[in-house]
Amino acid sequence: MNKIIEMKNVSYRYPVSDDWNIKNVSFTIEKGKFTAIIGNNGSGKTTLCNIIRGFIPHFYKGNLEGDVIVDNKRIVEYQLGQLGEKIGYVFQNPFIQVSGVKDTVFDEVAYGLENLGVEVNEIIERVNEILKLIKIEHLREKHPMELSGGQRQRVALASIIVMNPDILVIDEPTSQLDPIGTEHVFNIIRLMKDKGKTIILVEHKMDLIAEYADNLIVLHEGEIALQGSTRAVFADSRFGEYNIQYPHVTEVALNLKKNGVALKYVPIRNEELPESISWASIGECTYD
Ligand SMILES: Nc1ncnc2c1ncn2[C@@H]1O[C@H](COP(=O)(O)OP(=O)(O)O)[C@@H](O)[C@H]1O
Ligand SMILES: [Mg+2]
Repeated sequence: MNKIIEMKNVSYRYPVSDDWNIKNVSFTIEKGKFTAIIGNNGSGKTTLCNIIRGFIPHFYKGNLEGDVIVDNKRIVEYQLGQLGEKIGYVFQNPFIQVSGVKDTVFDEVAYGLENLGVEVNEIIERVNEILKLIKIEHLREKHPMELSGGQRQRVALASIIVMNPDILVIDEPTSQLDPIGTEHVFNIIRLMKDKGKTIILVEHKMDLIAEYADNLIVLHEGEIALQGSTRAVFADSRFGEYNIQYPHVTEVALNLKKNGVALKYVPIRNEELPESISWASIGECTYD
């Protein structure tokens, strides 16, 4: 297995925090895999993202214990800039991500490449390609501050993808988006996965996670409650204890099971429902 991120017994406490915010977390992420981090508000998802991208401990102080290893090197041995080239991070709040120094979406998306000193013609080519990919060409001359939340979310994603990092850490990228915008972001993420990128996504939309993510990490009060393949985690009987939504079809199937219908397996995608039901377990219908 080609490990790209490894956490060993990682605990973290913010400077002003009374309690540990991340508690004894261990996991491994294989290169090219799509891992979703899920959990209730305040369970530590954003904090974990900040540890993965080295913002903790390079920027936020506090106590960090255990080992965080990215591409076979401990995170403390990297410069923050080096990590920034390797790991693209899309903020939970798209309003933070906009640089505030550029007047058009085009320049905003070009900003990171400019800072790296990439040659002008290459910048133009790469930015055009990404605007097209993310379907925001129509916004190219708009002022970033004039955009809606959903548009900013897409611009934020574009300004990271254009940098071509190996690892993408994306924190709730669809919170401002309608279902079509959301589907579109997942399509982009899938394209990135097809290009061999390692994806770490924080997201609440379980139907889409069930469709796209390879693996799941469930956080609960700073600890890993469950982790494994997406299918195994949703099928785990303990999943129901954490008050996290199931994929819609899983919820339907588990309700049927509660009412005496046997399942051959726990479905996580809509199309699996008919074949997952053991039809023999359903008695003959009687009508009153
Ligand atoms: N900058 C900070 N300083 C102190 N505590 C923080 C800070 N950011 C988050 N926390 C606390 O850490 C815990 C995890 O927060 P967070 O990682 O933002 O959760 P999530 O992203 O799952 O909603 C929460 O209890 C939150 O109050
Ligand atoms: Mg968060």
